[in-house]
Amino acid sequence: MKPPVLAVRDLAKSFDGFMAVDGVDLEVRVGETVALIGPNGAGKTTFYNLISGRMRPTRGSIVFEGRDVTGLPPHRMSRLGLSRSFQINNIFEELTVRENVEVALTALHRKSWRLFASRDRDEALHREADGVLARLGLAELAPTRAGVLSYGDKRLLEIAIVLATRPQLVLLDEPTAGMTPDETRAVTRLIREIADSGDQTFVVTEHDMEVVFELADRIVVLHHGRVLAQGSADEIRANRAVREAYLGDEQEA
Ligand SMILES: Nc1ncnc2c1ncn2[C@@H]1O[C@H](COP(=O)(O)OP(=O)(O)OP(=O)(O)O)[C@@H](O)[C@H]1O
Ligand SMILES: [Mg+2]
Repeated sequence: MKPPVLAVRDLAKSFDGFMAVDGVDLEVRVGETVALIGPNGAGKTTFYNLISGRMRPTRGSIVFEGRDVTGLPPHRMSRLGLSRSFQINNIFEELTVRENVEVALTALHRKSWRLFASRDRDEALHREADGVLARLGLAELAPTRAGVLSYGDKRLLEIAIVLATRPQLVLLDEPTAGMTPDETRAVTRLIREIADSGDQTFVVTEHDMEVVFELADRIVVLHHGRVLAQGSADEIRANRAVREAYLGDEQEA
């Protein structure tokens, strides 16, 4: 079995005594694609906030590639090779599509690039950004201002930014939220291809079960901040507690 990229133990986060994440144990192995699902308010985004260093856990530990990273800030986590997307778009609307990717690349390369003349550096940066954009089918939009993109293309750009730095672990928080069915299918296929093509590890949150079943090697279900179940698509589909968690939430709504 491949080694774990991420191992969390008894991870918890309380907001004024309310346990949004309440004792999660989870291991994610190199190259796996894990879907993290659960009803609204289950604690998925909070879990990402903890793993990516945006929030400090109330208790528990986070080990990334064998190293205890509990409480490290986001910029340290991203330099170590963890990158995340947000449930809500997080791009620079005034910059072009290419510049958005370049910002992410610059942060990564800052140290090594001191050695180069700035013109060589700019050209290399351009080329690298264009390579990332091509991979996501955004090549033609490179010179376009990000603010005028369609909603679906904005989400794609966000994924490009996340993937630009070739992180070992990629956290995607509802990458297809708000997309049309066509856009959703395209993005799902793309994530699948990228996940299959290398050793990158993905944790993806999604409400669209078709996307989940297509992408996930393993599904982890969160409910009230705890892991309610985990397993294959078939196991999760057949799991009575999972069905009740989703139905119960619909009835309450
Ligand atoms: N900063 C915060 N302060 C107080 N409560 C919060 C905060 N962030 C999240 N919560 C609460 O924690 C719980 C879990 O929220 P979270 O956003 O992690 O859920 P989620 O699984 O991502 O839901 P969704 O599917 O709707 O995105 C919710 O009850 C939410 O109201
Ligand atoms: Mg969320």
